[in-house]
Amino acid sequence: MVCRYEQDLKVMIEKVKKYTASGKVADYIPALATANQSDVAVAIFDGSATCFSEGEHHKLFTLQSISKVLTLALALMDHGEEYVFEKVGMEPTGDPFNSIAKLESHVPSKPLNPMINAGALAVSSLIKGESNEEKLNRVVHFVRELSGNNNISYNKGVAKSEFETADLNRSLAYFMKQHHVITGDVDELLDFYTKQCAIEVDCEDLAKIGYALAHHGEHPDNSYSIIPTEIARLVKTFMVTCGMYNASGEFAIRVGIPAKSGVSGGIVGAVPGGIGIGIYGPALDEKGNSIAGMKLLELLSSQYHLSIF
Ligand code: DON
Repeated sequence: MVCRYEQDLKVMIEKVKKYTASGKVADYIPALATANQSDVAVAIFDGSATCFSEGEHHKLFTLQSISKVLTLALALMDHGEEYVFEKVGMEPTGDPFNSIAKLESHVPSKPLNPMINAGALAVSSLIKGESNEEKLNRVVHFVRELSGNNNISYNKGVAKSEFETADLNRSLAYFMKQHHVITGDVDELLDFYTKQCAIEVDCEDLAKIGYALAHHGEHPDNSYSIIPTEIARLVKTFMVTCGMYNASGEFAIRVGIPAKSGVSGGIVGAVPGGIGIGIYGPALDEKGNSIAGMKLLELLSSQYHLSIF
């Protein structure tokens, strides 16, 4: 089926491909270093059909920080706002995603928001479940529902690779445990967190997740409610203020779409009441966002007047 986006996306992918050469594939998680630097892909879901670019849109990649949006929604569904925001704040940091600085300089030392690693670790510690297996099954099931794809699972190799090298995240978790932001065993939490980050999707899955968020948390195919409207609103607001880390301000100006990136090169975009966007481009800029993906979103936003501002 030829959709109205198809030609445009082809042209846009051609335009942004060159930027991949000036980015860098994440290698602090060794398993991510094998990604192909020049890959760029996009999918748009408008509720009727998914239209692909010429990009590598069938390639699977791990959610990484995009999972932070989903565990936040789940934690809010598990506990309600008051409880969750006792553990994690609502303010952007202006710091890199893995920074420890503000945990120390702010009293009480709860993380400033759920989109930075410290905040996401605190949120993950809230997910209900008797065991890590049960918690992970809940997150995977949630991602399957949001994307309408029952084959979604997590990548064991990527999870293991991150678990074995996640000493910075361990430091964040130990710091928060000392200050009573989290309780329980740190390595248990890291085991769950790294598996949650290693859930694997393709661009189409991401576009459908974006679409569900854009449409008050409703299932992309049959409109039943997966996320309560109020929580979907809250999550999208965090995507605007903190979704692209310390690039969120510039992104709001240049693109103006609630979005969330991950170091594997994925970006999910949710245009309120409109389309869902899934992007993949593993070459990252210095802030950890897909370099070509950011350019692509700029082009999409300008071409289709997607900015919410
Ligand atoms: O915790 C980490 O460092 C990774 N699992 C996720 C970080 C991430 O995706 C930051 N994104 N830009």
